[in-house]
Amino acid sequence: MEYLKFDFNSCNVDIEKEIWRLEKIEALKLINETDMPFIKAFKQNLLRIKEALSPYKMRFDNMFVVGIGGSSLGIQTIYKAIFGNNPKEGKKLFFLENVDPFNTNQILQSAPWDRTVYCFISKSGKTLETVSIMNLVLNELRKRGFKDIDKRTIFISDPGSPFHILSKEIGSTFFEIPPDIGGRFSVLTPVGLVPSEFLDVDPFSLIEGAREVIRKVDIYHPSLLTAIVKFLNYQKGRNISVMMPYSDRLRRFSNWYVQLWAESLGKNGKGQTPLRAVGTVDQHSLLQLFMEGPDDKFYQFIKINRFESDFILPERTEILKFLSGKKLSEVINAEFEGTVQALKNIGRPVLTITLNRVSPETLGALFMYYMIATVVTGKLMNVNPFGQPGVEAGKKIATKMLMG
Ligand code: PA5
Repeated sequence: MEYLKFDFNSCNVDIEKEIWRLEKIEALKLINETDMPFIKAFKQNLLRIKEALSPYKMRFDNMFVVGIGGSSLGIQTIYKAIFGNNPKEGKKLFFLENVDPFNTNQILQSAPWDRTVYCFISKSGKTLETVSIMNLVLNELRKRGFKDIDKRTIFISDPGSPFHILSKEIGSTFFEIPPDIGGRFSVLTPVGLVPSEFLDVDPFSLIEGAREVIRKVDIYHPSLLTAIVKFLNYQKGRNISVMMPYSDRLRRFSNWYVQLWAESLGKNGKGQTPLRAVGTVDQHSLLQLFMEGPDDKFYQFIKINRFESDFILPERTEILKFLSGKKLSEVINAEFEGTVQALKNIGRPVLTITLNRVSPETLGALFMYYMIATVVTGKLMNVNPFGQPGVEAGKKIATKMLMG
């Protein structure tokens, strides 16, 4: 695979011996539009997204993305991975996700209202957090006297949902989430692609990366191998799944992964708890536990080969003389190798994924690779990866309280 390279050699699984499990569940046949509806990403009309976004791109500098969970984490990943944490130029995204009043206030003040478009995303169109914030935003727009709210708002939701109905009442642009694609599997639908297009991150490139993942599908497909090595380690009691990219740009990717892995597989007393970490920072908080704590974890490390900007440390280097003339990328990669080798040396299961660089294509590939791996793992665990019935109980109590 061009965009992603994998090393399965230290996952503590004899893949040749265990591959029959994949054959037994007919893992190859699962990669189809019925078992994995998100594969339909390739069939979307991306030109419609491009055309519809064009007037918004001309008129606005900022987009507020109002959504939570699968309606936010994917586009957060794309934005932060491509533009970093402190983009100086270009269009900006702001994420209204939590109903924390302090933070909501800060975000609402962070961009001029007349230069901002508001994108409301919710698959169900009735999520408590998203509806609360949407009402705040609409009220504020009315209070500020904007007469063209229809041209300042975009809705993305299931057809027929309350969001769809409201978008028609207001007259806003509406994008449909295919009904059979669940929230956490929807990053490659308008949910992720509409804000991407606003940022000039080409939806065609994201989809091209994803497409590459299913160009060649055989029993050694990396998603299938990932599912089998993670499942077998889980069966041996490794019920924590660590995701540790060595890159600040991929911090949000870990958040996306956590939702995907936890909500899809945490059912019927089963599941593998995802744990996010970032290299090198968490070497100074979690690595001690990884090395000498319980052997209950499966490790996934992501390495970036090429960083867009780099630094050469000065010849005159104080204190650690060996750093003289070294690149910063050499330092981060040496620490990556150090952690990976140290864990391998004590027999901990480690999967490494290498990205040549962070780009829309590699992100599209990462998303598709993990979504497929998740569904196949669900099949191996005998768990339905779709839906999240366990989340309902708390929601019901909160709604009851709010209804008085
Ligand atoms: O995966 C899912 O479907 C959920 O976790 C949703 O992403 C989350 O609850 C947000 O729901 P909605 O998009 O309906 O607002």
